[in-house]
Amino acid sequence: MTTVGIDAVEIWTGNLKLDLPGTFAPQMGEDPEKYTKGLGLNASSFPDSYEDIVTMGANAAYRLMDRKGLEPEDIGRIDVATESAFDNSKPVSTYVAGCLEQVYEGDFHHANKGERKFACIAGTQSLDDAYNWIKAGRHRGRAAIVIATDTALYARGDAGEATQGAGAVAMLISEDPSLVELSIEQGYGSADETDFLKPNQQFPSVDGKRSVQVYLARMREALEDFESIAGDSHPDQYAYIPFHTPFPGMVRKAGLLGYRHMIRDTEIEDELAAEIGRQPRAEAFDDEEAFREALREYMDSLKETETYQDWYAKTIDPTLTLSREVGNWYTGSVHVARASVLKHGLENDLDLTGSKLLVGSYGSGAEAEIHAETIQEGWREEIAALNVDEQLAARYDLTWDDYEEIHDAHNHDMDVDIEPRTTPDAEFVFDGWGRMGERKYRFVE
Ligand code: COA
Repeated sequence: MTTVGIDAVEIWTGNLKLDLPGTFAPQMGEDPEKYTKGLGLNASSFPDSYEDIVTMGANAAYRLMDRKGLEPEDIGRIDVATESAFDNSKPVSTYVAGCLEQVYEGDFHHANKGERKFACIAGTQSLDDAYNWIKAGRHRGRAAIVIATDTALYARGDAGEATQGAGAVAMLISEDPSLVELSIEQGYGSADETDFLKPNQQFPSVDGKRSVQVYLARMREALEDFESIAGDSHPDQYAYIPFHTPFPGMVRKAGLLGYRHMIRDTEIEDELAAEIGRQPRAEAFDDEEAFREALREYMDSLKETETYQDWYAKTIDPTLTLSREVGNWYTGSVHVARASVLKHGLENDLDLTGSKLLVGSYGSGAEAEIHAETIQEGWREEIAALNVDEQLAARYDLTWDDYEEIHDAHNHDMDVDIEPRTTPDAEFVFDGWGRMGERKYRFVE
C-alpha cells in the first residue's frame, strides 16, 4: 500500500523576539518564574513591521521548495492554515503562490489552493486534506504544500499576552515520505465550545482558564476515539508525544492526563499501586464530586513518582524545546513540537527510524485530533537541513518600548508606521497596499 506523510518540513520564525522573564515580567510586575517555570516560556517570536502571515508562510515554503529542488509544476496543492487571516474571501494561499511565482519561472495555475480555519487545529486538518487527496489518487504524482502560519497576538493586557508568538511551518506532503508516515487511524473529540474566538476581530476573546479545561476534555475524548480503532495505547508504545503547545505548561497537564489514561489496567498501574494506590474508579463512588476529588489526589501523587517523571522527561519534554523559545504559533504549534523532538533525536544521535509518534492536535471552539506517525528512514537528513537555531539566534531582542510600538504597528485598528528593527535578507516582505485593498509583496535579495 502507498505510504503517505510528511516528506519535509521548514520553519520560519518572526524576526523579532520578546524576552518574557527579562523584559515582559518586570513590566507586568510578575515573578519571572511565572513565565519560565509556570507557563514554561523563555521568549516569544514577533513579526517585524515588514512581516505578516504571508511573508512568513512564503519564506518557509520557498526554503522547502528550494531545498527539495522542486518547481511549481511539482506541486498540485497549496493549503494554508491560519487563524490570523486578513481577508474573508481571497485565501492566503493565493498570496503565497503569488510570492513564489516571483522567484520561479513556472506558475501554480494548476494547483488547488485553499485556506483552512479551525483555530489551532487547522494545520493538522490541512495535512489530512493533503493525505486524503494523495490516497484518493487525485494528485497526478504531485506533492502538496501545507503551510501553517500565524501572528498569535493578543490585546494588550490580556492574560494571553504572555503566550504570543509568530511564525510559519511549511510541510511537503507526498507519497513515500522521508520524514513521517501518517496513520490511517485517527480519533476526534469535538464539541461546540466558546473558549477562544475572534468574531470578526483581530485579537481573540479568550476565556484562558476554560480553554485549558476544554483542551484536556477534548484531547481525552480524541484519545478514546483513536483507541476505539487503533486499540489501547501504552506509554511505552510511542517514542514521543508531540501535542499542540500554546505554552509548555499546557502540555505538562496534557501529558499527566494522558499517562494516567494509558497506564490504567496495565502493569505500570500495578507496580505503582504500592506507592500511590490504584486509580479511583467511578463505579466505586456514589458521588461525582468525591470521585473527582479522589482523581485529583491520585494525579497529584502520580505526578511526583519517579516512574512518571522519567517517562515525561523522555517522551514529552523534548517536544517543548522550540516552543519555549518562540511562544504560541497557533496552527503551526503542534508541527513545531514534532520538529523539536526530531531535532532532539538528531542532536542526541538516536536511531529513530521506525519509531512511533502519537500526535495530539487541538483547536479552540473546539476539536482535538489524535493520530500516530511512523518515523521514516530519511528523517535525519531532513531535520539536519533545518536552520531554525540560526534563525532564532538572529532575532532582534525587543526592548519594552520596541514591543509597544511593534504591537501597535500590527494592530489593524491603529495606523502606526514604524522603522523596522531588522534588515530583510533573501526573503519576501510586505510592500504596501494595492488599488483593491490587497497586500503587495516583493522578494528582497
Ligand atoms: N513560579 C512558578 N510557577 C508560577 C509562578 C511562579 N512565580 N507564578 C505562577 N505560576 C504558575 C501557575 O501556578 C500556573 O501553573 P498551573 O496552571 O500549573 O497551576 C501557571 O504558572 C500560569 O499562571 P496563572 O496565574 O494561571 O496565569 P494567568 O492567569 O496569567 O494565565 C492562561 C494563564 C493560560 C490562562 C493565559 O496565559 C491565557 O489566557 N492564555 C491564552 C489561552 C491559551 O493559550 N489556552 C490554552 C489552550 S488552547
